[in-house]
Amino acid sequence: MEKKINIGIVGAQFMGRAHTNAWYDVANFFDLPFKPVLKAACDLDPRAESSFARRYGWESFETSWEDLVKREDIDIIDICTPNNTHMPISVAAARNGKHVICEKPAAMDARETLSMYEEAEKAGIKHMIAFNYRRVPAIALAKEMIMEGKLGKIFHFNAVYYQDWLVDPEFPWVWRHDAGLAGSGAHGDMNAHTVDLARFLVGEIDSVCGEERVFIPERKIPGSDKTGKVTADDATSFLARFREGASGNFIATRFASGKKNFLRLEVFGSKGSITFNLERMNELEYYSREDTSTEQGFRNIIVTESSHPYLNKWWPPGHIIGWEHTFIHEIGDFLLAIANDEKISPDFFDGHRNQLILDAVMKSAKDKQWVTVPE
Ligand SMILES: NC(=O)c1ccc[n+]([C@@H]2O[C@H](COP(=O)([O-])OP(=O)(O)OC[C@H]3O[C@@H](n4cnc5c(N)ncnc54)[C@H](O)[C@@H]3O)[C@@H](O)[C@H]2O)c1
Repeated sequence: MEKKINIGIVGAQFMGRAHTNAWYDVANFFDLPFKPVLKAACDLDPRAESSFARRYGWESFETSWEDLVKREDIDIIDICTPNNTHMPISVAAARNGKHVICEKPAAMDARETLSMYEEAEKAGIKHMIAFNYRRVPAIALAKEMIMEGKLGKIFHFNAVYYQDWLVDPEFPWVWRHDAGLAGSGAHGDMNAHTVDLARFLVGEIDSVCGEERVFIPERKIPGSDKTGKVTADDATSFLARFREGASGNFIATRFASGKKNFLRLEVFGSKGSITFNLERMNELEYYSREDTSTEQGFRNIIVTESSHPYLNKWWPPGHIIGWEHTFIHEIGDFLLAIANDEKISPDFFDGHRNQLILDAVMKSAKDKQWVTVPE
C-alpha cells in the first residue's frame, strides 16, 4: 500500500491557500516515498470550514490549534497564521512529536525564535521556516554560481522589496499594523525575506544601522467608526556589514506607489555580478569580468533549462514557472528531508539568526546608531 503522511494546517487565508496548493501538487512533481494527505485544517474563524477546508479538500476542520497539534493522526503541522502565534504553535507541535513548517518571519523576537529552535531540536523533529524565495530557481542558480566562485569576492549585496498597498490612506487597519500581533511591519514581512536571501547568498551579517517609518499613524477599523493605531513600521531601511567584508543595503516599504511585489537583488563581486527581479523570476542577469571580448556585458539567463535547479521537475526549456511553484519546491524538499532523515534549510536555526538581525535593525533604528548582531 502507498505510504502516506498526514498534514495539519493552521491558518486558512493567503498562505493557507498557497501552502494547500503545494501540498496538493507536490507528489505530482517530486519523487516522494509517501503521499501527503490533507488531513486537517484549522482556523479561529469557523466560516473557514466551508470556505477553506471543504473547498480545498481538507478531510476535517478544527477551530483550536491546541487540539490540532495533539491529534495522533497528524504527522506535520504547517503554520500559516499571524506572527504572534508561530512560537506557541510550533513549540506545542514539537512537544507532540510533529514535524513543523512555519511561515516567516519565524516569530516575534529572538527570544521566541530561540525557544522554537531549542524545543524542535529537543524533540528531534524536522523544522523549516518557509522562506520560499530561496527556492526560486534563478536564486538557487545564483547561489550555485556564487559557491563556484563565479562572482569572486563579494563587495555589495543590495536588496529592495517594494509594495504599495498602504499608500491608500483608506486601506483599513489589519493585524499587520499591530506590533503586538506582527512583531514588526514591512520589516518582518519583507526584510525577513531579503535578510534570508542575504544569508543564503553572501553569509552572516555582523552589524546593522537602520531607520524605520510609520507614514500613516492611524487607520479605520473595518466595521466600526473607530481607528486603530499603526504600531508596526510602514517602511524600514538599513545598512549592513557582512562578516566576510561585503557591504549591504536593504529597503522594505509598503509605500512604493506602483510597485506591487517588487523584490530586486544585486550582488557585485570581484569577478562579476548578478541581479535578479522577482517580477521576472525566470531570469537571472549575469556579468562576467572574465569575458574580455568586445561583446562583454550583462547576459540574461532564462532559468528554465532542466540543468537549472528544480527545473527537471517541470516543463521543457522556455516554459516558465510562477510564484506558487516556490512553495511546491520548499514543501517537496521538506518532505524529502523527512523521508531521508536529512537536515533541511532554512530551519529554525536560520529563523533565529534571521530574527537576531531583524531585532538588531529595530534596536538600531530606536537608538539611532549601529548595532552589532549577537553571535
Ligand atoms: N512566504 C511568503 O511569501 C508570505 C506571504 C504572505 C504572508 N506570509 C506569512 O504567513 C503568515 C500568515 O499570513 P497571511 O497573509 O496568510 O495572513 P492572513 O491574515 O491572510 O491569514 C491568517 C489566518 O490565520 C487565522 N488565525 C489567526 N490567528 C489564529 C489562531 N490563533 N488559530 C488559528 N487560526 C488563526 C486567521 O483567521 C486567518 O484566516 C504570516 O506569518 C505572514 O508573515 C508569508
